[in-house]
Amino acid sequence: MKIGVLTSGGDAPGMNAAIRAVVRTGIYFGNSVVGIYHGYKGLIKGEIKEMNLGSVADIIHRGGTVLRSARCEEFKTPEGQTKAVEIIKKHKIDGLIVIGGDGSFRGALALHRRGVAVIGIPGTIDNDIPLTEYSIGFDTAVNTVLDAINKIRDTASSHERIFVVEVMGRDSGFIALESGLAGGAESILVPELPYDMDDICKKLLRGFKRGKRHSIIVVAEGSAKGFDIGNIIQEKTGFETRVTVLGHIQRGGTPTAVDRIIASKMGVKAVELLMEGESGKMVGVLGEKLVVHNIEKALSGKKPINKTYMKFADILSI
Ligand code: ADP
Ligand code: F6P
Repeated sequence: MKIGVLTSGGDAPGMNAAIRAVVRTGIYFGNSVVGIYHGYKGLIKGEIKEMNLGSVADIIHRGGTVLRSARCEEFKTPEGQTKAVEIIKKHKIDGLIVIGGDGSFRGALALHRRGVAVIGIPGTIDNDIPLTEYSIGFDTAVNTVLDAINKIRDTASSHERIFVVEVMGRDSGFIALESGLAGGAESILVPELPYDMDDICKKLLRGFKRGKRHSIIVVAEGSAKGFDIGNIIQEKTGFETRVTVLGHIQRGGTPTAVDRIIASKMGVKAVELLMEGESGKMVGVLGEKLVVHNIEKALSGKKPINKTYMKFADILSI
């Protein structure tokens, strides 16, 4: 087979490990593999290069994606998709592996419906793709946030301040929830669940009465602006409050072992699925196991936030 691989949407640490796994597995089983640069944008333009074992040497530990990533409005149109299918035919690509988030999966599904064999690998720090416990990049992003919270906690404690930490998560609070739980945050705000600023401030005041002199509030960008939350807290409690917006540092950095292993497993499985003649499927993980689902099914629902984790975070930050 001739297998094509691309990365699309927001980059995520571990995407390189997945590309490496796809290329090496493809070649191991006697296929040829081509890399498509700049996601669907590059696909439409025919930015395609043959990959060999050396093309993916020395990248397993690097964040970002050597295939580059992009967002492409044209690909959302029927004309854009027709162009993409023509390029795939012209280059005699028999199957495509798309590494990206839910938007990229919508693109993959569109190609599958047009008769292109496609397998999706979830790669997004947001971890919001349904039917998989983890997406590539999430573990690294959570650890990056945790490292920042640890540092912020030092200064919060020295100056006896409240710190609001705004983390990524456009429509989902997975990064906020896991980093907040692991970082000992007093409150965690996620877009999936309602919050009450009066309750949050009352809790802070209760803690202060008991002798607590600093607190961390983690806010997912999709639930509120960190600066707005900081202003409300300072106004309602009178405590000196500072705000840190972590931004894109969460998208970079060397991937953790967890992300490299997930990426490697998913890359191998995606090639195997293409070789078995599958299409329109995504690889996911559930505990130690790999799972395979229809992309269509994954895109038909929203991944639920772990309410038990939220409860634990609340209990532990009493
Ligand atoms: P992510 O994959 O990280 O969620 P985006 O949502 O930005 O990132 O999607 C990446 C790209 O996937 C878009 O720029 C577009 O080219 C493609 N895409 C997104 N939604 C669709 C759709 N409904 N149909 C076809 N392609 C889509
Ligand atoms: O989807 C990943 C993500 O990092 C979101 O958490 C964030 O809102 C968005 O991408 C930012 O995208 P960009 O800055 O690349 O437009």
